[in-house]
Amino acid sequence: MREQIRCAVFGLGRLGYWHAENLAGKVKGAKLSVVVDPQEKIAEKVAHELGVQWSTSSQSILEDSEIDAVIIAVPTAFHADMIKLAAQHGKHIFVEKPLTQTLEEADEVIDVIRENGIFCQVGFMRRFDPAYAEAKRRIDAGDIGKPIYFKSISRDPGSPPAEFIQKSGGIFLDLSIHDYDLARFLMGAEVESVHAHGTVLLHPFMKECGDADQALAYLTFDSGAAGDVEGSRNAMYGYDIFTEVVGTEGSIRIGSLRHHDVQLLTDKGSVHDIVPHFPVRFKESYLLEMNHFIDCLRKEEKPSVTEIDGKKALEISMAAKISWKTGQRVHVGEKVKQTWRNES
Ligand SMILES: NC(=O)c1ccc[n+]([C@@H]2O[C@H](COP(=O)([O-])OP(=O)(O)OC[C@H]3O[C@@H](n4cnc5c(N)ncnc54)[C@H](O)[C@@H]3O)[C@@H](O)[C@H]2O)c1
Repeated sequence: MREQIRCAVFGLGRLGYWHAENLAGKVKGAKLSVVVDPQEKIAEKVAHELGVQWSTSSQSILEDSEIDAVIIAVPTAFHADMIKLAAQHGKHIFVEKPLTQTLEEADEVIDVIRENGIFCQVGFMRRFDPAYAEAKRRIDAGDIGKPIYFKSISRDPGSPPAEFIQKSGGIFLDLSIHDYDLARFLMGAEVESVHAHGTVLLHPFMKECGDADQALAYLTFDSGAAGDVEGSRNAMYGYDIFTEVVGTEGSIRIGSLRHHDVQLLTDKGSVHDIVPHFPVRFKESYLLEMNHFIDCLRKEEKPSVTEIDGKKALEISMAAKISWKTGQRVHVGEKVKQTWRNES
């Protein structure tokens, strides 16, 4: 077992900062050596706070033989190029979701990862959330019988700005991809087809971005099961995350709106607070997924959620996006590429 994995974090925005903070002191066997961001002030500030080196140049860090692994938390549009470069330099990779922005890019990065014999983990942190992990354990143990229906809701408390949305790949790719990954993970089956709908309810700028702020996808699985996934940027009350798997002998529900376990009772009624946003709801999961990544590298084992899972979730997202644009039910897999070519 390797003593220590020396890491570099690329991109110090919302996600990169969390990963850097975790790697700097909370993950056993990890050494955060350097943080990288083209915005010098951000790189310098985070480095100073965490007591590590900083750089504005990805290339020089990739060429550094003292770095074993890189964490890629840059905007999605840059994932493919950065994964390929990192793999070619022999670095193990943790990449935020989605793996890439297109299926062609996904195939390219899968080839480069394979050719260079490195490990890659994709940031589907919900799999590591204690509640989702327990649900998976109970489903696999047969506690609800055979899974027959999947329901998942992800409602964000508002939208990121237009500049982010333009580069995000859209709601099916950026937001609902977490639920599509959970669909495969919890149902133990592959999604066969998607029929999706979307509209703009609260954020008019979404129309100019060619995106929706409210989306729904109906899924069919190769096991004969079905499901639906709602994605929304319109939960002005808080961060609303919920998943249910219905089985032949019961149902399992994951998630509640409640933030602190405090309930206020007055003559006006009963109230509790609501989870404000993803860094709060999934704080523990970001640490647990990073623990898994470093642990796997130390043992030289493949992570449990890889570039292949990244591509499969991407295929479902693409099918949903095409279905929304065309109004047709879309089959997942090779046909997605074909349909997309025909449409574009
Ligand atoms: N797992 C999750 O829950 C989750 C949540 C939000 C975002 N994400 C993903 O994380 C990624 C980053 O999103 P974000 O919200 O943190 O973005 P962000 O815009 O907040 O931050 C991105 C950072 O990357 C930097 N950057 C840009 N190009 C770079 C380069 N070549 N090298 C190094 N740094 C570079 C930018 O200067 C910026 O500081 C996206 O792929 C997004 O889909 C995942």
